[in-house]
Amino acid sequence: MYPYDSIRDYVASLERRGRLVRIPEMDQDAYEITAFAYRLNDRMRDKAPAFLIERTKINGTLYDTPVVGNLYNGYSTIAQCFGVQDITDEQSAMYDATVERILSFLDREFTWKKIEPVAIQRNCAPCKEVVLTGNAVDLYRFPWIKNNPADAGQYISAGSVIMHDPELGRNVGTYRMQVKGHRKTGVYFTNQSHGYKFMMRAMERGENKVPVSVAIGIDPISWMMSSTRLADVGEDELAIAGGFRGKPVEIVKSETNDLYVPAHAEFILEGYINTETEEEGPYGEMMGYIGKKTFTAFTIEVEAITHRKNPWVYNLWPGIGGAYLTVPWDVAHFARLKKIMPHLVKLHTPPDTPSVVIACIDKRLPGEGIEIGMLILGYRMVGFSKKVVIVVDKDVEPTDLSRVMHAVGTRWQPGSASLIVPQTTHIPIDPSCREMFLSGKIVIDATRQQPGEGGPDVYPEDNRTALEERAPDAFALVDKKWTKYFQK
Ligand SMILES: Cc1cc2nc3c(=O)[nH]c(=O)nc-3n(C[C@H](O)[C@H](O)[C@H](O)COP(=O)(O)O)c2cc1C
Repeated sequence: MYPYDSIRDYVASLERRGRLVRIPEMDQDAYEITAFAYRLNDRMRDKAPAFLIERTKINGTLYDTPVVGNLYNGYSTIAQCFGVQDITDEQSAMYDATVERILSFLDREFTWKKIEPVAIQRNCAPCKEVVLTGNAVDLYRFPWIKNNPADAGQYISAGSVIMHDPELGRNVGTYRMQVKGHRKTGVYFTNQSHGYKFMMRAMERGENKVPVSVAIGIDPISWMMSSTRLADVGEDELAIAGGFRGKPVEIVKSETNDLYVPAHAEFILEGYINTETEEEGPYGEMMGYIGKKTFTAFTIEVEAITHRKNPWVYNLWPGIGGAYLTVPWDVAHFARLKKIMPHLVKLHTPPDTPSVVIACIDKRLPGEGIEIGMLILGYRMVGFSKKVVIVVDKDVEPTDLSRVMHAVGTRWQPGSASLIVPQTTHIPIDPSCREMFLSGKIVIDATRQQPGEGGPDVYPEDNRTALEERAPDAFALVDKKWTKYFQK
């Protein structure tokens, strides 16, 4: 039941909706799960279900620890995570309902509601059902996945790294962790991450071993908070997760350090981060390209592992299907931009087309398409990571990429309705950029061009809009009779 306390409660609800496929066994030495994840999404797109593999072969060993993936695919599933009632498979309706629900968690100052986490006793915490310390600590007891033959090795891809700073409090962030030994992993903080900031501050205080606990397999909202930057530095991700959930996240103290961790996690790794950096990667990253080897990753010495009985490994295949929940990003940016630009109707970041954002506007005046595009590019939280801003009219559904591309093909004039910025700040992992942090950017104004913008004197109606406006009940009629058409 919503709100889900654990990844299991959530997966059980997916299964009840027929959105989970269970597979008895797969051979990851042959990269079977990776190819399966691709095919599932190639063939089923936003209806591709989550999967749970009961047994997985890795390095010749058959592990009976289940591996779960593709948990957040499609807007019906995402709507479910945020507690939308009446879930259907209508992507745009589910997206709109999710946005509306998320807006209710933002206050007038654009800050997220918070409910502080609550500490529970260790004997009530599922993540403590099994406690491994001393010689029993061995990461190779569990099936961490090597996603791609080009990856440097097995990775803990969906960990939530928990650190503490005396002034800033708790930080929870997702950073990839290459498995480097029985008790050792890498941890790669980009230098814009809060994890990096916490690390630098600890080093300035003269610490050379920074305590850390890593939660793997946590409830959807805490996972969202860990893997997207919704919290400012100094804000507690778990308190914001509580606000979204309308119920506190339950936490419990780690066995070997003072960090509190989500009590319903599948696994907790405890240890410390070494301040020396070393070689890490390459790794198939979320832009969909194999990243460069880095020499700036820290390492974690693992001192204890606690886990549920029969724990699940949650793994991500970055760049394939639904890995994490980004809609609150859209919503936070949308709410702020709408204040400056009331004609903004929707803002959509398609999860599988990195660096592209689609803004939908109720255009009145000439130039408004380019104007909103400039605002988005100049607005760092969105513009920082967005290279292509496509602006469409309000009759184009921004979650339907075929309709967006139809507008680009039929309403956009490249010569007069584009704005190219030769170079500005960008995320460091875009493979098309020569200089890290610098990229060209473009606004594609795919709104109907008015005469003052060089468009035709009379813009022809498009067929679909003409139907919607002149026969407003036609789609409702078909929707009502939809299942009947297919009855034999
Ligand atoms: C699957 C996945 C892997 C990620 N890997 C990294 C990583 O290796 N290093 C990093 O700095 N950020 C990574 N990120 C992005 C961070 O999780 C994200 O920026 C988050 O806000 C970090 O938390 P922080 O803002 O508290 O630093 C990853 C995100 C996801 C979803």
